Amino acid sequence: MRTGGSLWSTLLSLRLRLIGLVAVVFAASLALGGTVACLNASRSVEAEMRSALAVGQQIVALGVAGLDRSDDPPRALEELVASFRGNRHLRVTLTGAERAVAAPQRDAPPLAAAPGWFERLIGVTPSRVLIPVRLDGRAYGEIALETVPHNEVLEIWNEFGGSLLLLALFSAPTMLLIYVFIGHALRPLDRLAAGLARIGGGDYAVRLEERLPPELSRLRDSFNRMAGQLFAMAAVNRTLNQQLLSLQEQERAELARDLHDEVGPFLFAINIDAANIRRQAEANGLATVAAPAAAIAEAIGHLQKQVKSMLGRLRPIGLAEFGLGDAIAHLIEFWRRRHPEIDYRLAIAPEAEGRGELIDTTLYRIVQECLSNAMRHGKPAAIAISIGCEDGALVARVRDDGCGMSADAGTGYGLIGMGERAKGLGGSLDMASDPGAGTTVTARLPLSEGVPAAVL
Ligand SMILES: Nc1ncnc2c1ncn2[C@@H]1O[C@H](COP(=O)(O)OP(=O)(O)OP(=O)(O)O)[C@@H](O)[C@H]1O
Ligand SMILES: [Mg+2]
Repeated sequence: MRTGGSLWSTLLSLRLRLIGLVAVVFAASLALGGTVACLNASRSVEAEMRSALAVGQQIVALGVAGLDRSDDPPRALEELVASFRGNRHLRVTLTGAERAVAAPQRDAPPLAAAPGWFERLIGVTPSRVLIPVRLDGRAYGEIALETVPHNEVLEIWNEFGGSLLLLALFSAPTMLLIYVFIGHALRPLDRLAAGLARIGGGDYAVRLEERLPPELSRLRDSFNRMAGQLFAMAAVNRTLNQQLLSLQEQERAELARDLHDEVGPFLFAINIDAANIRRQAEANGLATVAAPAAAIAEAIGHLQKQVKSMLGRLRPIGLAEFGLGDAIAHLIEFWRRRHPEIDYRLAIAPEAEGRGELIDTTLYRIVQECLSNAMRHGKPAAIAISIGCEDGALVARVRDDGCGMSADAGTGYGLIGMGERAKGLGGSLDMASDPGAGTTVTARLPLSEGVPAAVL
């Protein structure tokens, strides 16, 4: 699963992709609309030019036919041509006469023009018609009528510009709105990612509680169901682990009892018997018997010490009777006898004691393994043990200033066992060590188990 940060970047790109899609749709509809509008514009300019030319031809034909009735036909002809002055669609000129006359389209030249590419796109070419003029039965030049699509194209170009501006004014805020909306709609996914990250870290109490649209609310409900089931499973797991641990402790206690009650008295009896045999053999001068009897007594003494030490490990001395502090003090005494050169420090906060047999045993076993590891692997000059309450958890810390864990240190039963014990009570175990800088083991046990809480 991706982390919150990288998920955010995915969301961002998804957001950009969606907005890009909207932009493509806008651009495609603009291109399609533009193509259709261009085709229509081309047809309408063509029709306009055709009708302007037809009307112009009619006017010129009528005017030329009436020239004979005029007092001054050349002048009437000039006036006829001049009557087209200002026509937007036709350029009319009289050529071949005594005086060439042209009727300018407009009094002033046009200030603006549509771009060349647009005129080419509309694609209407000017057409030209020549009407011959005869005065008094002789040819008197000809009138040329030429269509000028330029003005019509300019008009369409201006309309196009207006529509484009309108579209831009509409699409820019629309895209911005969509962008903001998508960001808002995807924000819950960010929180979902944060929730998943917390689940990944073992915090099953996390829940999503905000109101969401139907698609996302299904996701939220599934997330909450999953978190709930994980929470329940973790609770069952914890209970099983606790049962396992207390069974283990019970079994150890039974073993200790059997060793103490069954083996102890017999060892004691054998020891007395061996002492008696030795005494009588010495009294009767039986040196060959006295020596083995002494050896038996010595072996039994050794066995008794071993049994005592096993009893101490199987059943922490004083834990049930005097509590955690005394039991650990006893443990320290055990090691002090063997390593008097080490500086031992013990600090137990009063509120950390008396938290129940299971917690006491767990802390005792963890401290026991830490001390044994420090002696076996660390060769420290000082060991500090502290147990107290921090941030709603019971924290046991064992710090030694020994050689630290080497880079190739493996994992034996000790570390696994300590971790399992801490986890069994819903807690955690943390090891910090640098070669040459000692080792610190920290066990955290929650003081109360969490209940599902709406935190997101
Ligand atoms: N206090 C320490 N100082 C230096 N090294 C340590 C310390 N504690 C543990 N280690 C290293 O971590 C390894 C694993 O420790 P762990 O207690 O799991 O196994 P072990 O002590 O070797 O055997 P056992 O299963 O009997 O406990 C050790 O072998 C040792 O290399
Ligand atoms: Mg060990």
